[in-house]
Amino acid sequence: MKPAGSVVEPNLSYRAWLQAVPLEQEELRSSWARVLQTAEVPDFHSPTGAAVLTEWATLCRELLETEGRVVSSADTSPAPRLRLVVREGILHEEGFRIRHLREGAGDVLELAARSEVGLLYGVFHLRRLMTDGVRPEGIDLMEEPRNRLRMINHWDNADGSVERGYAGPSIFYENGNFAHRFERLRDYARLLASVGINAVSINNVNVHENETQFVTEEKLPEVARVAELFRVYGIRLFLAVNFAAPLQIGGLSTADPLDEGVRRWWQETAEVVYRRIPDFGGFLVKADSEHRPGPFAYGRNHADGANMLADALAPYGGLVIWRCFVYNCMQDWRDRSTDRAKAAFDHFMPLDGSFRENVLLQIKNGPMDFQVREPASPLFGGMKRTNQVLEFQIAQEYTGQQRHVCYLVPQWKEVLDFDTQVEGVGSPVKAIISGFVYSMKMSGISAVSNIGMDDTWTGHVLAQANLYGYGRLIWNPELTARAIAEEWVQLTFGSHPKTLDTLCRILLDSWPIYESYTAPLGVGWMVTPHTHYGPDVDGYEYSRWGTYHFADRDGIGVDRTQATGSGFTTQYGSDNASRYESLATCPDELLLFFHHVPYGHVLHSGKTVIQHIYDSHFEGATEAHRLLEEWKTLEGLVEKERYRLVLDRLMEQAEHADHWRDVINTYFYRKSGVLDEQGRPLYS
Ligand code: GCU
Repeated sequence: MKPAGSVVEPNLSYRAWLQAVPLEQEELRSSWARVLQTAEVPDFHSPTGAAVLTEWATLCRELLETEGRVVSSADTSPAPRLRLVVREGILHEEGFRIRHLREGAGDVLELAARSEVGLLYGVFHLRRLMTDGVRPEGIDLMEEPRNRLRMINHWDNADGSVERGYAGPSIFYENGNFAHRFERLRDYARLLASVGINAVSINNVNVHENETQFVTEEKLPEVARVAELFRVYGIRLFLAVNFAAPLQIGGLSTADPLDEGVRRWWQETAEVVYRRIPDFGGFLVKADSEHRPGPFAYGRNHADGANMLADALAPYGGLVIWRCFVYNCMQDWRDRSTDRAKAAFDHFMPLDGSFRENVLLQIKNGPMDFQVREPASPLFGGMKRTNQVLEFQIAQEYTGQQRHVCYLVPQWKEVLDFDTQVEGVGSPVKAIISGFVYSMKMSGISAVSNIGMDDTWTGHVLAQANLYGYGRLIWNPELTARAIAEEWVQLTFGSHPKTLDTLCRILLDSWPIYESYTAPLGVGWMVTPHTHYGPDVDGYEYSRWGTYHFADRDGIGVDRTQATGSGFTTQYGSDNASRYESLATCPDELLLFFHHVPYGHVLHSGKTVIQHIYDSHFEGATEAHRLLEEWKTLEGLVEKERYRLVLDRLMEQAEHADHWRDVINTYFYRKSGVLDEQGRPLYS
């Protein structure tokens, strides 16, 4: 017998959150069937319109187990129907409105939008409403995205590998070429559109020789084919480009952004690209960062570099997304005057206001590099006259690599909700990034993808929640982490109350749990060099990457205060600067990011730092085992395939959490010589 509310088809992991789950409740199903079965359809003008119809028919089939029927807008019979309308002048370009109307004898569910993409988003929203048990009668809602650019960055290489990829090889490439997996790409585009993503860059920001070729006549037809697939789903395609391309593939002897020949080369390149892909999004650039080429080699700055590319793209409406992940990756660990956390601000703040209108600066959420806990980057709120894109990492590079469950929506929400206070209290990052505080011509959010060729897309079935949650959150940052988790669980696993309750708890607890058994109190790193998986407390301590914890026998942490440290705190707007500067007000979870303190320092929680380290690691590992036990209670409620996949991952997580616990605790016990108050095992 099939358990109530669960799904029964094969390939369930691959279908992710677009499952065929017939509505269980008879009444709910028949009231939706009444208004959805017949669709009144306008004249569509693009393949997106066809996708709207396909999605509607799929909804009828998968959730209502019925075949839909199309009528034209000239049909005036009074039968109840779904009316799809493209209407000028209403709403945001990508928004939609869903209203239940009573018209004579029949009732109408009207889905209106300004564009066919808006309708597509609306049909996907109907799926959410239906799965959530909302009835059609009385619906009157309007949705529009808060962020204009809602992007995914792939770090995929033409050889088929994925930098920081934890879900198998690239879906785009193999052996140096495009892989032509059109069906898979379409399925992916559909998943992305279902959560409102509207832009994708398809190659690694570290652009190698093979990918540099993507902007050539020879390779562009392949790029154009991918762009076409994404276009159907309202997604614009971007390419990461190599700043030294004029040298590498252009036959020039320089890539100097002020050189006339270089400027002409990029203009010609843009022309060639747009001839093939008229709605091409633009270029994503990692320059003068981690050995990538950039304008510094010619004595030019980032504005010179970005503006040169922007000028080439401007005639076609293209954008340059220029990353701010710039720091000295050849630091001498003995040099205490350099602080990597300060680098992005130091490089880019002086250039605020000097970028073209079609340049967006892409800023990682924190000043370091996607750690489990970091403060928000001070560039948010700092820069006032430059278009900005906030960059998250859905790929769990430092948060368990999709082997551990770590639902990142709560972490992202903390960044979005962080009040920069630059325009007085009430200027959170989300309001800056949406362009609300300082009007920006273009702005938004992007994130490093977590998908690959794995059957589950994301390696860990529960990591699908991060891709889903990312899209939903950046569409509307006011959604709660819980609401998004609930949506995802219902769409993915059905709506059995026990499944919903247990899975939401697992997801919502997972980030704090991961944090508690790994690097403590905001200090970050402590991971195995290169792979970044598993504990190695001193792995980066004497390296060139600028990522230190400075633990000695007396204490730990990075002094970033103005008074005695690197002065990073001064990069924040005044109230935040003083809050982080003072030990009395610095939040516990970021203490070691901002301060070097003795192990006996007493936290706001009342515990000493050393006792906090012991407690959090013992508790974190215990909690990781609890997640496994919680999952086991879903046996029989979740079908076998995904039950087993998640079980395996959670077993591994519990074991590795124990390892983290013992390595970290032992390290600090050996350094400090302080015993655990509760006498739990530490290894001398
Ligand atoms: C991290 C990551 C690199 C990546 C870099 C980036 O440092 O480990 O693999 O290239 O971020 O964001 O460019």
